[in-house]
Amino acid sequence: MLVRSRRAWELPESEVTPEGVYLRRRELLAGLAAGPALLAAACGPASAVEEEPIAPELYPAPRNDTYQVDRPPTAEKDATTYNNFYEFGSHKQIWKDAQALRLRPWAVTIDGLVEQPMTLDAEELIRKMPIEERVYRLRCVEAWSMTVPWSGFPLRALIDLARPLGDAKYLKMTTFMAPDVAFGQKQPWYPWPYVEGLTLAEARHDLAFIATGIYGKPLPRQNGAPLRLAVPWKYGFKSIKSIVRFELAVERPKSFWEIIQGGEYGFWANVNPEVPHPRWSQATEKVLGSGDVVPTLLYNGYAAEVASLYEGLDGESLFM
Ligand code: MTE
Repeated sequence: MLVRSRRAWELPESEVTPEGVYLRRRELLAGLAAGPALLAAACGPASAVEEEPIAPELYPAPRNDTYQVDRPPTAEKDATTYNNFYEFGSHKQIWKDAQALRLRPWAVTIDGLVEQPMTLDAEELIRKMPIEERVYRLRCVEAWSMTVPWSGFPLRALIDLARPLGDAKYLKMTTFMAPDVAFGQKQPWYPWPYVEGLTLAEARHDLAFIATGIYGKPLPRQNGAPLRLAVPWKYGFKSIKSIVRFELAVERPKSFWEIIQGGEYGFWANVNPEVPHPRWSQATEKVLGSGDVVPTLLYNGYAAEVASLYEGLDGESLFM
């Protein structure tokens, strides 16, 4: 059994986990006589992989000061040891198990409605991109937040490589599948692989960033190496980790959490303190590391930059 102590900023897992998953998991676990074997498969330790970091010469990258955050950065230790990465389990200390993820080779495919579909190795892709550092806020739907210096490149630069066709409206992104090392992926009550989506307009927005590094170093596995999304005006679950595929599409993709519980985790998921989660308020957030509770801001403080993306979409659930 997993025993852990709760840190000040955590919500109990039963509150955070979508009710459907929580109840279904309990039922499944209760019904399975082979409890110890299943738990070992689901939570068993994995050994760390020794590998050269991806493109280490790119870090620290030059800082782009266009986006400022009026909060001190979160301590590196907190941002890299308190993580959500359900592929490695639903607890927050997945950073140890995530070390088993192999990053070489790592094929990244850009396809769908594009002129130039392609598959290339992550390191080759990253070396083609204009790498810079940006400090962004991250607001998790669980009501905790952090401020971190990401290194990476605008998502738009990756999309432009493949040249989207005129009828492409959405970008679907997919995380790796590797249940041999990511034991969470052996849990059948989740719809693996993790998928997220943006409109093409969102994906082309200057703030939409692909992070390949953090704190002036290559991205650690637990934060989504070798490349993950950072869309700071949306709840953190939109910022999909360890991406293997970018697909341009006409249809709006259904994301991992939307499939699980669409009434709690929608497609848009823009941060809004006035729209509560069905089971808790989103008015405030606990600042990771300090335990301070501060007011949450509309679009997580990026309203001036992104509000215009949503003009004329009044019928949509933009904040869920
Ligand atoms: N991406 C994948 N593939 N799997 C996940 O479980 N969790 C999301 C997001 N991206 C998640 C993911 C959630 S809920 C949050 S809050 C952020 O990653 C956390 O990012 P961090 O661990 O780097 O702070």
